[in-house]
Amino acid sequence: MCGIVGYIGDKNAVEIIMTGLHRLEYRGYDSAGVAVVKDGRIECVKSLGKLVVMDAKLEEAKLAGPLGIGHTRWATHGVPSEVNSHPHFDGAKEIAVVHNGIIENYQELREQLKAEGVDFRSQTDTETIAHLVRKYYDGDLFAAVKRALQDVEGAYAIGVICKDNPDVMVAARHGSPLIVGLGENEAFIGSDVPAIMKYTRDVLYIDNGQVCEIRRDGHKIEDLEGNPVELEVKTVDWDDAAAEKEGYPHFMLKEIHQQPNVIKNTLAGRVHEGSDEVQLADMALDPQELKDCQKIVIVSCGTAWHAGLVGKYLIERFAKVPVEVDVASEFRYRDPIIYPNTIVIPVSQSGETADTLEAIRIAKSKGAKVVSIVNAVGSSIARESDGVIYQQAGHEIGVASTKAYTSQICCFSLLTIYLAELRGEMSKDKAREMIAHLRGLPEKIEWILDNHDAVKNCAADPKYRDAQSALFLGRNVNFPSALEGALKLKEISYIHAEGYGAGEMKHGPIALVTNELPVVCVAVQSDTYDKMVSNIQEICARDGIVLSVATQGDEDIKQHSADVIYIPECFEPFSPILVAVPLQLLAYYIAANRGCDVDQPRNLAKSVTVE
Ligand code: AGP
Repeated sequence: MCGIVGYIGDKNAVEIIMTGLHRLEYRGYDSAGVAVVKDGRIECVKSLGKLVVMDAKLEEAKLAGPLGIGHTRWATHGVPSEVNSHPHFDGAKEIAVVHNGIIENYQELREQLKAEGVDFRSQTDTETIAHLVRKYYDGDLFAAVKRALQDVEGAYAIGVICKDNPDVMVAARHGSPLIVGLGENEAFIGSDVPAIMKYTRDVLYIDNGQVCEIRRDGHKIEDLEGNPVELEVKTVDWDDAAAEKEGYPHFMLKEIHQQPNVIKNTLAGRVHEGSDEVQLADMALDPQELKDCQKIVIVSCGTAWHAGLVGKYLIERFAKVPVEVDVASEFRYRDPIIYPNTIVIPVSQSGETADTLEAIRIAKSKGAKVVSIVNAVGSSIARESDGVIYQQAGHEIGVASTKAYTSQICCFSLLTIYLAELRGEMSKDKAREMIAHLRGLPEKIEWILDNHDAVKNCAADPKYRDAQSALFLGRNVNFPSALEGALKLKEISYIHAEGYGAGEMKHGPIALVTNELPVVCVAVQSDTYDKMVSNIQEICARDGIVLSVATQGDEDIKQHSADVIYIPECFEPFSPILVAVPLQLLAYYIAANRGCDVDQPRNLAKSVTVE
């Protein structure tokens, strides 16, 4: 999730762009760049690291000009570096592009362009756009961008400038947010409102498939086929803080609502409609090593550990590889036994968790191959792994992990299909069916987000909101869902909560059941549904308060539950991705109703880089 800003007018674009990038820094900040058109040339300054580094370089470079674009990067393709930072250019450095999103067919485009003699400077998907615009450019930048985007598949919000067009900035959107700000004889583009709100509150919210030609004194918008589009100018009345959260009260709620797009982005470039195979290009492991693999060991912490537990159920069930899952802080001190042909999979949103990083070093010292599932591109864990499956989930700001968790499970789902096919454990038909189920998840998450009044009502209900303690129960692939639901509640609302396998109730926890104990039961349709209902009946018999998470259409569950939260029907092995969403929302609204600091809970840090 990167940030783009652009300006055309009579002021110095650099100053306005940097102000805007600083307002977008929460979207990601591993590198940055600014390019301006001045006196028939494009001048550019790039920097690695936070924007303060860029400020210093610009101060020295004295970069200035009335037309420019800028970018703050959260890497998805290509490690953080100056050469990979945006803007990216055509070969002649006469056209500059900034981009937020993921070009799914960039490898194919890259090969085509190379075959046409294009030399690439960077490892990024974005650079293909700059070369495509050049390919179709004949003096009309607007037309060249429209034509170039017809070759592109994936998500983008882009800003484009050209040295020979000092009176035009072109912007376009598909999937990633983009706004155009309208001022007096000046105009702006931005990834979202905070970037430009200091200068204008009159904005156009660009929609998917729309391309804009922006001039100081006007603009025109068309779709890729050249059909004109008229958009209503909106006036934004947010304050700065609200704008960064795009109107949500907390980053956590914003990130919960980002999950439909996050799953799309995690899948982007890896599975295509109707396809029967998964592409994991950045995993970079010899297929033979995966075929020879005798055991997988997953190591991680907290929420990432819960995602690893889901991964175990999926990989063992479909790829038939034995999987061990351990918290990294235990793994690193138990002198783990690593047999030959073992693959270790660290899971980490930040890619900097100390225990997980040390676990990698120990695993490698014992001869294991390491393939990490990481969100932060170029992070320590990514760099020390033999291969990586990047989550492509965008920058996660809320300390309580939400979109990173569902993205991690999605990565395990992709890996499961990839492994199962490679090892001959899954037919093409089954793979195609499971890929279709994965591709259908965003819409199901949208349904949950659009229909979560039951969750809000529970969160306002004193028997949940004011509880002293809570139990979360699940079975099989949703046992980790119970653990994760309990972690979410405890870490942001400070209500003590425990997750358990429901079959463990009789082995102790049932002693806790009273008429003051909420018990959240994950009872979606599955092979263990009847067992789950039995557990629920045992709780009801002791006056426990049962809040069931069930499959839409299940009316029977109501007779055993004080409240029911529904998720849409789904392919049960992937149900943890759906179950996570109402449990995230439940924790969020209870914590908010209790007046807790949802985004930065007490005592917690976003990345535990110390033991
Ligand atoms: C999750 O809500 C917590 N904030 C925490 O458990 C987190 O999952 C854990 O610290 C692991 O972080 P990582 O994914 O960045 O390695």
